[in-house]
Amino acid sequence: MERILITSALPYANGPLHFGHIAGAYLPGDCYARFQRLQQNEVLYLCGSDEYGVAITLSAEMAGKTPQEHVDHYHEINKALFEKMEFSFDHYSRTTWPGHTKVVQELFIDLWKKGYIEEREEMQLFSEKENRFLADRYVLGICPKCGYESARGDECVKCGASYEAIDLKNPRSKLTDTPLVLKKTEHLYLRFDKFKEKLLFWIQGKKWKPNVMQFAKHYIEELKPRAITRDLQWGIPVPLPRFKGKVFYVWFDAPIGYISAAKEWGEKIKRPEDWKKFWLDSDTKLVQFIGKDNIPFHAVFFPATLMGVNEGREEPFVLVDELPANEFLNLEGRQFSKSEGWYIDLEDFFCKYSPDQIRYYLAAGAPEHGDSEFSWKEFQIRCNSELLAKYGNFVNRTLVFLTKECGGKTPRYELPTSSEDKDFLHAITAVVNEAYLAYANFSLRKAASLIMELAAVGNSYFDLQKPWVLAKDPGTKKELARIFANLLECIKTLALISSPIIPMTAQTVWEQLGNTSQLAKESWKCILTTPIPAGQVVKPQLLFKKIEDEEVEKEIAKFSPKNPVANPGDSVVSTLKSEITFDQFQTLDLRVATILSATSIPKSKRLLLIELDLGFEKRKVVSGIAEYYNPQELIGKKVIFVANLKPTKIMGVESRGMILAASFDKEVELPFLQNVQPGSIIS
Ligand code: MF3
Ligand code: ZN
Repeated sequence: MERILITSALPYANGPLHFGHIAGAYLPGDCYARFQRLQQNEVLYLCGSDEYGVAITLSAEMAGKTPQEHVDHYHEINKALFEKMEFSFDHYSRTTWPGHTKVVQELFIDLWKKGYIEEREEMQLFSEKENRFLADRYVLGICPKCGYESARGDECVKCGASYEAIDLKNPRSKLTDTPLVLKKTEHLYLRFDKFKEKLLFWIQGKKWKPNVMQFAKHYIEELKPRAITRDLQWGIPVPLPRFKGKVFYVWFDAPIGYISAAKEWGEKIKRPEDWKKFWLDSDTKLVQFIGKDNIPFHAVFFPATLMGVNEGREEPFVLVDELPANEFLNLEGRQFSKSEGWYIDLEDFFCKYSPDQIRYYLAAGAPEHGDSEFSWKEFQIRCNSELLAKYGNFVNRTLVFLTKECGGKTPRYELPTSSEDKDFLHAITAVVNEAYLAYANFSLRKAASLIMELAAVGNSYFDLQKPWVLAKDPGTKKELARIFANLLECIKTLALISSPIIPMTAQTVWEQLGNTSQLAKESWKCILTTPIPAGQVVKPQLLFKKIEDEEVEKEIAKFSPKNPVANPGDSVVSTLKSEITFDQFQTLDLRVATILSATSIPKSKRLLLIELDLGFEKRKVVSGIAEYYNPQELIGKKVIFVANLKPTKIMGVESRGMILAASFDKEVELPFLQNVQPGSIIS
């Protein structure tokens, strides 16, 4: 028996999770945990909300809530979604529980005593306009690596480089677009550079995906001390009197959440020492499911932190063994985005479809080796042609036939003697062995396809044996019993290998075979080696509902007005530009701006010089709308404004920003906003 500690990245309690997240770091983790429990391994599967960090203060501010209110809200929402989707976490924790603060501060003090923490007086970006130091997220500038103009304060969305905000060239405030100055402050740095050799040696033995490995090695090569404190109110306080008022950087505290979650689990089950078995016993295998954007933290920074903590400890913390990192799942060609309306309303979704349908669909198309896509059409096909027509149909036709023609009781199973029966058994065994490997090696796509393969194996045996012919002849009772005993073994196996992905359906099938136990608590091996007892009453019942075309068309229609691709016949609509990531989209700073004045530009028929109020500052732009609008009628109108566009000269006039306009055929129309304040963010 193995002891396995499984984690899925702690999602930010900063918004509702969507299927894109689920497909990446969560469903694979849950299926793996379920699979390992069936192997009778000792599993602890943990997750929880990641509740600190600037992103959260920013959104809370925008929502007019305190950070705590904000995370309380989304913690509950996300937890409920996981429950709805049958997640089998042993514990779902959160980083604002007091026990987490304690662990983080303890580990920090330990590193500090060991000399891994360095105090640095440093120059930090300060906004004179806002009179405060600005955290990474509030800063934009030119990437020091690739020169990208709108690189974020902590990383470049274009080239993926990670750095400190002061490394940016021409830094400016994201909110006010004003230049920032350097001012002295003190911060604590973790000397990650001291772990370089150790990390390189440690990582050699890993068999992670090539892209994960490459990324991790690259990071190790470039390791530098990194600041682990921030000038912020929201976060875990640095437990040193001199650093009062500063908090830890969220990426220092969050991974430690995996440890504090285990402690909280121990308290919950009233065995407060049990967490140690998982975290402090070198026999434990630590498997961490993450999205690709989390690789450096799990492959390098957190292991380095633990290496420091582990020095001189009698019971060192285990380091990550397996790091299955998935890519992203998009929705009908674009990244999910709630604020853009580009998402699926989950409440609505679960009124119509079952958790198992979505689990199967996401598993079958899991973004394991590249981004994948949620498409309603594909969802319908997977549900109708695979789950219903293959899996459901095989189980149902077998059990219905048995009930109608053979008394509805499970026949006694005997080892096969005919070559047809032997082949059938071998085919089943081969699929099961492959499914075992697929789950063990984190390939949900493969596992999902093997489930359908097994259903197909069962269906063809049924067709080959033609029980409907035999049933006409009363002398073939024994033969029918043999055939159905074989078919039921196949169904049992099907329930077993599908149980990690579609647990509720698998349990139903298990019960339809006349069993009463919890399949999820059984042993994979025992189920395979123990035939179904004779004489159990089978209970056929349909497993899946067909998804009708009209239903799916309705869903797709919800997206089409925003998706020009859906109207290819429409000549006015130009082709869709190449895809961008959500991060790339987020580099756009769109604001509501009020037009203060509009004047024509001499010698130009097309252009107007427009002055706008962004709430926090005024801008002048040159806009090509003179043929469509009379300057007078524009004054006082609120428009959508690209606030972070690089200034440019048009007809000798500097233009700082851009007004968004729709054009169709040869017409141009500006979208005007009604009630929002100038300066409001449009996202
Ligand atoms: N909250 C992060 C994200 O959603 C993941 C944190 S993982 C942990 O990208 F290691 F910090 F816990
Ligand atoms: Zn760059």
